[in-house]
Amino acid sequence: MTVVGAGNVGATCADVLAYKEIANEIVVLDIKEGVAEGKSLDIWQKAPINQYDSRTIGVTNDYVATAGSEVVVITSGLPRKPGMTRDDLIQTNAGIVKSVTESIVQHSPDAIIIVVSNPLDVMTYQAHMSSGKSRNHVIGMAGILDTARYRAFLASELNISTKEIQAILMGGHGDTMVPLPRYTTVAGIPVTELIDSDKLDAIIERTKFGGGELVKLMGTSAWYAPGSAAAQMVEAIVKDQRRVFPVCIKLEGEYGIDDCYLGVPVILGKNGVEKVLELHLNDSEKAMLETSRTHVKEVMDVLNKLNE
Ligand SMILES: NC(=O)c1ccc[n+]([C@@H]2O[C@H](COP(=O)([O-])OP(=O)(O)OC[C@H]3O[C@@H](n4cnc5c(N)ncnc54)[C@H](O)[C@@H]3O)[C@@H](O)[C@H]2O)c1
Repeated sequence: MTVVGAGNVGATCADVLAYKEIANEIVVLDIKEGVAEGKSLDIWQKAPINQYDSRTIGVTNDYVATAGSEVVVITSGLPRKPGMTRDDLIQTNAGIVKSVTESIVQHSPDAIIIVVSNPLDVMTYQAHMSSGKSRNHVIGMAGILDTARYRAFLASELNISTKEIQAILMGGHGDTMVPLPRYTTVAGIPVTELIDSDKLDAIIERTKFGGGELVKLMGTSAWYAPGSAAAQMVEAIVKDQRRVFPVCIKLEGEYGIDDCYLGVPVILGKNGVEKVLELHLNDSEKAMLETSRTHVKEVMDVLNKLNE
């Protein structure tokens, strides 16, 4: 298993993978000399305290050390600064994601690739193009994070355990995400029975801008929840859990959408995406998904021009 990028998100992901013993060996690779080595050593030195046997190994741009990985998480790239949108990162991050993907495929031809770098949907497109792999093997992490933010806000409002809240969000990773309160339940009870619509609307709005809220507070984007979300996807694949998560994947006709990378509910197992689940959306949900599709397509076009 490999994590590319030993920054905030990559190091957190490697830490969660080690702590939960999801792999025996986790290689962490970064372009900055010493960073991956140092953070990996720090995570390994935590093993005697937290009692795990997974070993983290840091390397500087050495893809030979990553050879034969089953799953690779790409977190390399610039994060947002205050005032930036995720889309502002496209030019720099597309070049990074392209070169990283090519190196991964060369050394781990069978790896399932999970993209985290932003703008997420379009970086998943870049990685998919550069990999030459089938769509179920190149997927993006955003939906688990967005859903987790939504679930956390609901748990605070209702003053109950986050474990009781089941929810799903769809669409692009950004302000055009598609909330689905119809599919949100609290221990099986529709959420709309427990919370007034004004409060629910406010929580949905806060979720849409949840990433920006943290950028404003910290001057850079989040890492604990994003790193943990990526690790949860790795776990579902490695353990063949067949869990249902919202994941970014190229749509090929599902939801009436072709050739666009969007978050949709899928079954995640040993083959990556085992199945895309198609929900029966109502007219307003369909309209929101269409807005999301239009936005992601525009950013995909920007990437196409950059790649010309
Ligand atoms: N999908 C999501 O939901 C989500 C959530 C949070 C952050 N992100 C994105 O994840 C990315 C990483 O965020 P972060 O906070 O960890 O940033 P960071 O700056 O802390 O870390 C990025 C790391 O990537 C490394 N890097 C750059 N080019 C590289 C290359 N060619 N090869 C290997 N490593 C390289 C840098 O040296 C740095 O250590 C950003 O693009 C951010 O926007 C996505």
